[in-house]
Amino acid sequence: MARSLRSRWFTRPLLAGLATLMLLLMAGAAPAWADYALPPLPYAAEALEPVIDATTMTIHHDRHHAAYVANLNAQIGANPRLAELDLEALQGQIADFPDAVRNNGGGHWNHSQFWTVMAPVGQGGTPSTPLLKAINASFGSLESMQTAFNKAAAGRFGSGWAWLIRKPDGTLAITSTANQDNPLMNLSGIERGTPLLGLDVWEHAYYLRYQNRRPDYIAAWWDLVNWSEVNRRFAAA
Ligand SMILES: [Fe+2]
Repeated sequence: MARSLRSRWFTRPLLAGLATLMLLLMAGAAPAWADYALPPLPYAAEALEPVIDATTMTIHHDRHHAAYVANLNAQIGANPRLAELDLEALQGQIADFPDAVRNNGGGHWNHSQFWTVMAPVGQGGTPSTPLLKAINASFGSLESMQTAFNKAAAGRFGSGWAWLIRKPDGTLAITSTANQDNPLMNLSGIERGTPLLGLDVWEHAYYLRYQNRRPDYIAAWWDLVNWSEVNRRFAAA
């Protein structure tokens, strides 16, 4: 009994002290960053049928995009500067980071963009008057812009992206990037600008339905373009 009483008198203050110490340590050591998060698809996986099938959408979002997010989060500990950068700011400083951050940070930004610039067939609206004016000034017509975009998308060897961008001088341009690079990245060999519309031409984006027929995927994809979002990006650029 006496031993038990003595034990309680000894252990209670000790436990309270340890708990306080733990709280202080946790407060001091708590990461200042929030982990990057996988955004949900803004529509059902089957919403883009028949252009993109539900299985492709599910695998693309739930596995490929999710893996980029998980792999980027795994880099935070080794790259503390990630704590100070949001995802978009990271793209502009990507040259300072190792390839794992470049590939997975790019993959996260690119795919987050990709889901939003698509909408179910018939729900994507049309280019705004200011956007159409800029397209006409840079390409001559909407059709000419699409032809140039299709050529860049079909011509990207291996995996990558095709982009419509607004360049720093205000003109629009078509460009293409390899792997998970994008036009926001401060890397040599990249034509930089604000992405208005980006198309994923990795095989994982289309192979189940289109197999090796990438040009068919690209041609069909225009029916999904969410011009309302492209207009918004142009107005904000
Ligand atoms: Fe992808």
